[in-house]
Amino acid sequence: MPENTILGNVTSDVISDQQFEYMRLISQIMQDRKRGDKPVAYIRTYGCQQNVADSERIKGMLEIAGFEFSETVDDADFILFNTCAIREHAEDRVFGNVGALKSLKRKHPQIVIALCGCMEQEHIANKMYKSFPFVSLVFGTHSLHRFPQLLYHTLADGKRVYERDNDDKKVYEGIPVKRDGTFKGWLSIMYGCNNFCTYCIVPYVRGRERSREKSLILDEARQMISAGYKDITLLGQNVNSYGKTLADKPTFAQLLHEIDSIDGDYWLRFMTSHPKDCSKELIDTIANGTHISKHLHLPFQSGSDRILKAMNRHYDRKKYLDIVNYAKEKIDGVSLTSDIIVGFPGETYEDFKETLSLIREVEFTSLFTFIYSPRVGTPAAKMDDPISAEEKSKWFRELLDVQEEIAAKRCASMVNNTEKVLIESETGKNGELSGRTSGNIIVELKGDKSLIGTFQNVKITQARNWILKGELV
Ligand code: 5AD
Ligand code: SF4
Repeated sequence: MPENTILGNVTSDVISDQQFEYMRLISQIMQDRKRGDKPVAYIRTYGCQQNVADSERIKGMLEIAGFEFSETVDDADFILFNTCAIREHAEDRVFGNVGALKSLKRKHPQIVIALCGCMEQEHIANKMYKSFPFVSLVFGTHSLHRFPQLLYHTLADGKRVYERDNDDKKVYEGIPVKRDGTFKGWLSIMYGCNNFCTYCIVPYVRGRERSREKSLILDEARQMISAGYKDITLLGQNVNSYGKTLADKPTFAQLLHEIDSIDGDYWLRFMTSHPKDCSKELIDTIANGTHISKHLHLPFQSGSDRILKAMNRHYDRKKYLDIVNYAKEKIDGVSLTSDIIVGFPGETYEDFKETLSLIREVEFTSLFTFIYSPRVGTPAAKMDDPISAEEKSKWFRELLDVQEEIAAKRCASMVNNTEKVLIESETGKNGELSGRTSGNIIVELKGDKSLIGTFQNVKITQARNWILKGELV
């Protein structure tokens, strides 16, 4: 791809050669600064898969700069926290864990401690920069492609580096990736979000929507499939608006279909899909797909039309149920999952009951449930919020109970089925493995660990709440 291609109103650039030169320079500096035989990095990732994918690119750059990776901070020369700002709880955890590094830095002053990610793109960055003088490097999500340069300056100049770049009109290609998994992997197809749901900080910290060029996504998918990836998840804050910033305006359904046409034994998933623009074309593509898993993660957030309006979601309960019913009709055995917020400002128990009734009607496989957390700078944070935290927790537990019942019923209906399962790990119990169905349901079974990373047919023998038990066929 030529450098600086104009893609609608967004430009696509290739990471500059200069950044590779910085990786080489870092590798030289680290020869004198490392504590052990080789420079070691510890990367801790909070939050969503987009952050996990960003950390994999940071690791890709660090690997070229000669780093090995550790699961603990104890022997690390470089410590990075890739932070999440979506809820207060995520932020508190980062504050606690970074604070705990103070004594390590005192003992080994040559260690570089860095913070990046969504918190760094937010007002909170200043607070962190001031609260943690032992943190030498702070950068936001738009500066990832310049990470080698920033780290080089931190190391070479001995000064603290604080970078917040707000340029969200670019997509950077060619950043090296070191994926965490060998058979499950993430593939980013777009960045940013234009939806401005009133509770959500993401559009402020990740900037405007921008899509990667289709041919480059297809190349990366081919590479992953030939490298043996069996479960590939396409990532974007709202994959349904994929293509809008590209010159020829491909739809997400077209992209999905073209990836699905690549030969191989793999599953294709995607997240997240906004109900406002989840098209019938997309559901038909899933229904007719060869590799696309029969799983649709479609966050509805609330079952009450009044609250959906206040959330700025641009769909109502009826529209949501219409899509779900179309998906159930077209995709045999479709597994539906969703995100829900309990206790949005102004939500009443009557509104909450609408959420419960929607859950009962749809019968989701599983849910990601959250209590509303005010985020400074979002419209919802300024709305009246009279319901107490205790009351919201009570509603939340009620929601979990209802979902547990539904998931158990759904799982029980699968007993005696034979399911294709991707074996993922050992459970820790003797000789037991854990895997997932195409619908993303956990299955536990007896088997040898050499099966990890392979597809197996498994007869479901038992359902324990939301976990299935099975036997190799
Ligand atoms: N409070 C609680 N949950 C939130 N989410 C996003 N912002 C907030 C917030 N302020 C949830 C939504 C979204 C998921 C990724 O996180 O349900 O779909
Ligand atoms: Fe946040 Fe809404 Fe964008 Fe999802 S679609 S990232 S909830 S603003």
